[in-house]
Amino acid sequence: MRIITVANQKGGCGKTTTAVNLSACLADNNKKVLLIDLDPQSHATLGLNIKADLSMYNVLSKLTHRKAKLESIIQRVGDNFDIAPSSVVLSALEQELSGEIGRESRLWEILMDFAKAYDYVIIDCPPNLGLLTINAIRATDEIIVPVEASRFAIEGLGQLIDIMSLIQDRLNHVVTYRVLVVNFDSRLRHSFTMLEKIKTAFKAKMFSTIIHVNVKLKEAQNEGTHILNYDKYCRGTKDYYSLSRELLTAERDAAETPVAAPAVETVKTEKKEQVNLKQRMEEILKDELAKFQLTEVDLTLQAPDAQNVYAAGDFNNWKTDDTSMMQKVDGTWKLKVSLPAGRYRYRFVKDGEWIEDPTNKNHALNPYGQMDSLIEV
Ligand SMILES: Nc1ncnc2c1ncn2[C@@H]1O[C@H](COP(=O)(O)OP(=O)(O)O)[C@@H](O)[C@H]1O
Ligand SMILES: [Mg+2]
Repeated sequence: MRIITVANQKGGCGKTTTAVNLSACLADNNKKVLLIDLDPQSHATLGLNIKADLSMYNVLSKLTHRKAKLESIIQRVGDNFDIAPSSVVLSALEQELSGEIGRESRLWEILMDFAKAYDYVIIDCPPNLGLLTINAIRATDEIIVPVEASRFAIEGLGQLIDIMSLIQDRLNHVVTYRVLVVNFDSRLRHSFTMLEKIKTAFKAKMFSTIIHVNVKLKEAQNEGTHILNYDKYCRGTKDYYSLSRELLTAERDAAETPVAAPAVETVKTEKKEQVNLKQRMEEILKDELAKFQLTEVDLTLQAPDAQNVYAAGDFNNWKTDDTSMMQKVDGTWKLKVSLPAGRYRYRFVKDGEWIEDPTNKNHALNPYGQMDSLIEV
């Protein structure tokens, strides 16, 4: 199984288009492909017209009520081509994972159990360097970095390369990457100037294939399909097919070479750069996590005679412990919880008895035939 991540923290630079159409072309080459949509915006899932009840959130979250195995969320896109869909709730995972030990390796652990079922696993990342992207990089050996041949396109790539070096250094995991020039407009002289700049910056760490601007790629996405289904003979198909052949050739070369030469150049971390790597990773993570804002919610219960009250819900794994214990202030029991955007169920536990929040009109039936109170953040 070859696991390839498509990553670049810049939005709209062709990650999803590459992940979807490369998967389709590899599948067309008789390789069994799983596309994992790891972006909460779910563009790969939506762009392939997949309706998902369960998503990668249910696979990766430890807090959800509805934990699922990877194999149970997978849906078929076409011959040899499956998808593990995303959903918007996946955004909550950044926050959930932030306090956990082994948080960078959750996806890797899941994929290791899943080994051999596919020839290729292609992971589509969100447009940031948060824990989802870090999980994808950790789970993978090769990264494709799509880069547009335009000004500012390569700014910020240093951060992505830093993250790869950090993962290599901290988790002892070798990651290699190659830059893929996308959205190349051969009518513009400027494109060629930028291409030269990218070649100078990345030298051997580039694919020979270049993906040209082709409106059919956009149209295919809007029609809920991939480029092979939409127009087999257009430039977009030709380009992504060529990319798939380039990857397949590297696979063949590696198999034929007794001592396998790395197909792509390894990210090397200079000794002096290793100083403060951990601190750098924490800095990048801190900036990224700040984007996943938490909202403070006050839960209250009037129960002057109660001895102890807890507020337990899916935000604290329904536990009655220090984290869910409410404080009594003038006869009112109070607990502040900080939550990322989402919908949460909870109940109060008053002197050992589970009750609904009497002041909250929003509720829903739970599997035990009782009512859970609901909050929307
Ligand atoms: N080579 C291309 N030619 C024309 N449009 C493209 C091309 N690559 C991507 N697009 C369009 O650009 C937009 C952003 O691409 P997308 O792959 O979703 O970026 P990302 O996943 O990095 O945010 C989409 O509407 C997509 O259809
Ligand atoms: Mg995308």
